[in-house]
Parts: sequence; structure tokens; C-alpha cells
Amino acid sequence: MKRGYPGSPSNSSASSPPKSRLKYTPKGDADFSNDFVQRVADHYSARTNQTLEEREASPIIHSKKLNNWIKSVLVQQHTEQGDAVLDLACGKGGDLIKWDKAGAGYYVGIDIADGSMEDCRTRYNGDADHHKRRKKFTFPARLICGDCFELRLDEVLADDAPFDIVTCQELQLHHG
Ligand SMILES: C[S@@+](CC[C@H](N)C(=O)[O-])C[C@H]1O[C@@H](n2cnc3c(N)ncnc32)[C@H](O)[C@@H]1O
Repeated sequence: MKRGYPGSPSNSSASSPPKSRLKYTPKGDADFSNDFVQRVADHYSARTNQTLEEREASPIIHSKKLNNWIKSVLVQQHTEQGDAVLDLACGKGGDLIKWDKAGAGYYVGIDIADGSMEDCRTRYNGDADHHKRRKKFTFPARLICGDCFELRLDEVLADDAPFDIVTCQELQLHHG
């Protein structure tokens, strides 16, 4: 049976997307009128960067490490030198190092949480590593704050496309 959107009539128009909840501007800025979407963005924006000690003390550290390892393997296996990557729901940029090690040539990250995008920008600029072990990333990047389900990606990313890899990691997986 064809899947429809909630509230849509059960005829052929059931496959059309729900009405946009977001005012789109060409720059990719978002004006969220939907309460839930705003709460998701606020939740992730409010999450502070943990220290290594805090991270290791987490009761679910092993699950996080397993996730990270799986992502590293996937990124290594599927990336070719110079690939252009679109990372939907990129968060604080925790995967930037993985893409760098795999040889990505261009990176576009989109996330709904402005606080996370700020952290991602800081990390990309090389200011987040207190031990200064890592220089800036080798690939150019564009970071966009917005709802990846609502943005007109064809318009927002017109100058960035085509992409070799489109990835969306842990969007529905929320660590406790
Ligand atoms: C568990 S984090 C994963 C971050 C990153 N992909 C990673 O694997 O480290 C989930 C992310 O999804 C983002 N997010 C949730 N709904 C979104 C949406 N509709 N559009 C863009 N980002 C969204 C959140 O802001 C958060 O940063």
C-alpha cells in the first residue's frame, strides 16, 4: 500500500509532501514556526561540548564509541580522493576528521541547531582542539543552518552540487 502523509486524503495526492513549516530565504536561514522543530534545534544547541573526562564517564560511552567506529569504517570505505560530501544533520562536526582522513575534497554540512553549527564552525576552523594537535582541515567547507527536510536543497545547494556522497548519520538516533 502506498504510504501517505498524516492528514492527507487517501487519493493520489496522498504522496505529496506536507505544507512547508518554514520560511525559506535563499541564504539558508530559517524562521521556524513549528514548535517541535524549534525544540529539537534548542535541545541540540543547548548541549555543551564535553571534556574527554566527561565523555569517558558517560554510561553509554561504549555505544557512542561503537557508533563512531561504524561511521569511520563507512566513511573510509565509500570515500574517494577529492569527493564532494553533503552531510545532512551534521551536528557539531564530529565527523569532520573522518572525512578529512578519507580524503574528501569539499564538504557541505547542514544542521537545524544554530548552536551546533557554531561549534561545527569553530571545530572546522581548528579552534576546538585545545591540544593543538590538529591544524585546519584540508578541504573547503560550507556550513548551513536549516531544516534539511524543509530547505529547497536544489536552490540552496545550486552552486555546490553535484555531490559524490550524501550522508545523514544519527539523525534519528539520540544518545541518552
Ligand atoms: C545525534 S546528532 C548527530 C550529529 C552528526 N550527524 C553525528 O553523527 O555526529 C542529531 C543531529 O540532527 C540534527 N537535526 C535534527 N533534526 C534535523 C532537521 N530536521 N534538519 C537538520 N538537522 C536536524 C540535530 O540538530 C543534531 O545535531
